[in-house]
Amino acid sequence: MANQQFDLFIDKLQSLISSRELIKLVISNQRDHSSDLKSIVITLIDIKKGTRLNFVYRYKTKDTTKNYDPGEAMILIRKSLEDDFLNADLFSGKETLRLLITEHGKVKIRSNQPAMKQVADFSHDRRKERVIATENNIYLRELGILNSNFELRKEMTDKYLQVNRYIELLEPFIRELELPVGFHVADMGSGKGYLTFALYDYLTGTLGKPPVMTGVESRKELVKICNDIAGKAAFTNLKFNTGNIREAELAKVDILIALHACDTATDDAIFRGITSGASLIVCAPCCHKQIRKELDVKNDLKGILKHGILEERQAEIITDGLRALVMEAHGYKTKVFEFISTEHTPKNLMIVGLKIHGKPAVIKKSLEQIRAIKEMFGIKMHYLEELFVTHDKS
Ligand SMILES: C[S@@+](CC[C@H](N)C(=O)[O-])C[C@H]1O[C@@H](n2cnc3c(N)ncnc32)[C@H](O)[C@@H]1O
Repeated sequence: MANQQFDLFIDKLQSLISSRELIKLVISNQRDHSSDLKSIVITLIDIKKGTRLNFVYRYKTKDTTKNYDPGEAMILIRKSLEDDFLNADLFSGKETLRLLITEHGKVKIRSNQPAMKQVADFSHDRRKERVIATENNIYLRELGILNSNFELRKEMTDKYLQVNRYIELLEPFIRELELPVGFHVADMGSGKGYLTFALYDYLTGTLGKPPVMTGVESRKELVKICNDIAGKAAFTNLKFNTGNIREAELAKVDILIALHACDTATDDAIFRGITSGASLIVCAPCCHKQIRKELDVKNDLKGILKHGILEERQAEIITDGLRALVMEAHGYKTKVFEFISTEHTPKNLMIVGLKIHGKPAVIKKSLEQIRAIKEMFGIKMHYLEELFVTHDKS
């Protein structure tokens, strides 16, 4: 591609590689929308033979990885941008440089403040002891968090930290529970299973309380991948089933997890947990749409909620607040908190419900608060409550 801006971007990249200041290059926005390859994430790594560029090819349902020497890597990057992709984001400690190519071949570069810091050194001697160990960890390798030598892949550092943080947060709640032998954990919307495998590993290995665990996921290709990994890791009591959170057949659930299940799928999961009498319900909601559509504010809050972004945030707070209150109204003690800094993921709110013998006065108060909040915001239909209404009628 004969273009000054393009060449400038390539020169910048070359110089960041030479000075070892490159944090990450992300190539994205496929020209061919039907292609399964969605993006390529490129970082510097050191192997015995010297410095290489690690390419993670992100496909729709899997990642593959390959290392190239810098010369070879530059040829491949140039070719990807000329033939296949329209965007590239170049991260260094000094700036973030975005390359934008239009379908007609026009090229622009935008420079922004640095979005990332140089990641910590994860060499063996400096690594903090983590609750999920990397040594010979087959599922972390199969999930692409570790490379084939069981070393943490730099570009998967955030995911590894998130997995650890999640287990560290659950630990005190799980330790409070009196769990029967062969207790059942259900992970609703288990996705690629990062957190499912880690929890199974922690319960079985660290805590010495082996569960029977089920991942429920609507995408059958992910279910297959996860069952294959469970087989390789010899996690015999962990199974993934294709199904919908709302109707999936489940044995009695003791611990129910739903992380980043979209919109009302989180409500379906909470409903399944409550009606199964789960001792612990943990969810990290995302994509709050249902309540926002219901908002019909007639009071002075209108002056604030006329701003779209404030209405969106308010709807999220109401949605998650009502979820916690519904759990309280069903005899759960709840806690709502941020589980990892937004630097790692914007979807970072966690709602935890621990089953207690709820006092009638607390239950009554929760129900009154739900009613008052709905009235204040003009909410006529609340999906989670509606599930109970339908359930009680049948
Ligand atoms: C954002 S991913 C999160 C995956 C995983 N829980 C995590 O936190 O890494 C949400 C997953 O939930 C699945 N999902 C969403 N709604 C669902 C439903 N109603 N029934 C089953 N799976 C669902 C999606 O297919 C997707 O894989």
